[in-house]
Amino acid sequence: MKSKHVLAFSAKSYDQEFLSIVAENNLEFDCYNFALDPISASMANGYEVVSAFVNDDLCENTLNILAKGGTKLIALRCAGYNNVDLKAAKKLDIKLVNVPAYSPHAVAEYTIALMLALGRNLPRAYNRVKDGNFSLNGLLGFDFYQKTVGIIGGGKIGQLVGQRLKAFGCNVLVYEPYKMQQCEKLGFQAVDLATLFTQSDIITLHCPLLEDTRHIVNAEMLFMMKQDVMLINTSRGALLDTKAVLKSIKNRKIAYLGIDVYEEESNLFFDDHSLDIIQDDIIQRLITFPNVIVTGHQGYFTQKSLQHICSTTVTNILQFMQGEQLLNQVIA
Ligand code: NAI
Repeated sequence: MKSKHVLAFSAKSYDQEFLSIVAENNLEFDCYNFALDPISASMANGYEVVSAFVNDDLCENTLNILAKGGTKLIALRCAGYNNVDLKAAKKLDIKLVNVPAYSPHAVAEYTIALMLALGRNLPRAYNRVKDGNFSLNGLLGFDFYQKTVGIIGGGKIGQLVGQRLKAFGCNVLVYEPYKMQQCEKLGFQAVDLATLFTQSDIITLHCPLLEDTRHIVNAEMLFMMKQDVMLINTSRGALLDTKAVLKSIKNRKIAYLGIDVYEEESNLFFDDHSLDIIQDDIIQRLITFPNVIVTGHQGYFTQKSLQHICSTTVTNILQFMQGEQLLNQVIA
């Protein structure tokens, strides 16, 4: 058993740099930049602690292989654990820890950046001026002041997004099953989903991906939305039925789409595919629209977040190695 060694999957050069700085001499991170899945899992043979990220496939198969190889702890370098078969982990007695919150400000600020960039046509203006074209035709934007914004999920990020939009003079609606009071204290109006979908000019998703939130934006909900709605998703790709969203862009119901996450992102995101023939026709089609911004899951990607993710991960692992209580344990 490699005692102080931790095997980190999906660890890019920037992760490796931050992990090694915060680990100091307490831990040794051996890193692979590819994902953990049933094929790569056997590479963790002999590692008691394995670290994984958002798009690693921690299905029952992967967990079985890890357990056979002696893995006892999986340290997620992210908050969400929808990619982990929790029941299988429990059965195999593999413990799971996560990083519950890493700079929600980073994601909230990024969400606002997507909204403003879309609302004022910044990508097109940027490219146009680079080409010596200073015409304003086609760049007409809108004021956020007095627009109604619907937030689905009024947790840490949703609340920060709402506060920022209130400062713009927006009317903020929120659909939040558990933290209604906190949201109302911030001046948001708590509403049901149908009201949010029918009344919002801008809809932004900040809830986790669960069985009941998968495809929370689907054909039926899109039908209810206002003409020319702006839709933003910086949470998890499968909150949107992307095929239905694509249709609604083609039939001009959605006037603006900003997504930092995508249902099938695990085969694409975090890697350079610029020389590949990308086979995913949905994302390729989305990228062609002038009123769509797609980014590759970078909402969290600030220095402060990375520093926090890595230091929490190291603390989580040291708690396990020293037999202490796991403060960030994910319970099945
Ligand atoms: P949080 O747990 O503080 O807030 C989520 C809120 O969603 C909670 O208040 C919860 O009550 C609510 N919720 C639960 N079920 C719901 C439902 N059925 N409908 C509506 N709301 C529901 O989480 P936080 O930190 O605000 O993160 C939100 C999401 O942002 C995460 O789930 C994650 O998917 C995503 N995220 C994206 C990042 C990126 O880089 N793009 C980085 C970090 C998180």
